[in-house]
Amino acid sequence: MSVLSLRSFASLTLPVGLLAGLLIGPAQAQQPPRLDVPYVPTPEPVVAHMLKLAEVGPDDYLIDLGSGDGRIAISAVQDHGAKAALGIDLDPERVREAEENAKREGVTDKVTFEQGDLFQKDISEADVLTMYLLSTVNMRLRPVILDTLKPGTRVVSHAFDLGDWEPDQSDVINGSSVYLWIVPAKVAGQWTLELDGKSHQVELEQRFQKVTGKVDGHPVGLSGQMKGNELRFTLDDRLYVGQLNGDRIEAVPADGAQQGWVAHRS
Ligand SMILES: C[S@@+](CC[C@H](N)C(=O)[O-])C[C@H]1O[C@@H](n2cnc3c(N)ncnc32)[C@H](O)[C@@H]1O
Repeated sequence: MSVLSLRSFASLTLPVGLLAGLLIGPAQAQQPPRLDVPYVPTPEPVVAHMLKLAEVGPDDYLIDLGSGDGRIAISAVQDHGAKAALGIDLDPERVREAEENAKREGVTDKVTFEQGDLFQKDISEADVLTMYLLSTVNMRLRPVILDTLKPGTRVVSHAFDLGDWEPDQSDVINGSSVYLWIVPAKVAGQWTLELDGKSHQVELEQRFQKVTGKVDGHPVGLSGQMKGNELRFTLDDRLYVGQLNGDRIEAVPADGAQQGWVAHRS
């Protein structure tokens, strides 16, 4: 089964329910769960790359949406030392299989699996969110990701992107695309920038992680991007790097960056 990719399934016109029936076997085919995505496991080298790209480590709580046999959640804990991982899958058969795998690998103290609809679960505590779903499902999840996950949460998807929200990084591994997004803090609005002993009025606009702004109404303004709570922008060919904290942005040390400035919401 793993030789077939989910992308090849996505291009078929068969109803997902029928595909699910075919994929999960005759015993379940009578009353298959109404899956939004059929079960196709991510190949192990791609799992490894997804977790590497997300820089999973000991401070991380990972949630895998549509967790299949549990391989991503188990590997996060076992191979990358994540402090805990949760897999959510609608198919009870997959949850049973994942729980058996976690038991066999001796990681049940850190890895749990829940049966349920990924759209109904609270995922706001995730530090890393992983997905191997479909474009349509990713797009339904996009507002949830942007509005409920903490700024700085890493989101990694195998094969399917998030539409016009460009990834912060992407790679191709063994022919499979892997995408990384870092949830941006919301920074749009009116700011007062204190710089070189002067106050400037700055109007920031934001589209996902990309930020543009007008300074004192001048058409040539600033352009930059959010990486979690960090705002990095250039203005008059000078680099500024700041950390957003509530209604303040304060300069932080960075190579070649201007120091001694601060901004607060007007
Ligand atoms: C392509 S598989 C990915 C499995 C695993 N994440 C991996 O990468 O190996 C998609 C999984 O999503 C599950 N699924 C489909 N619709 C779902 C839904 N609405 N809520 C939760 N899980 C769902 C399927 O049962 C299947 O196990």
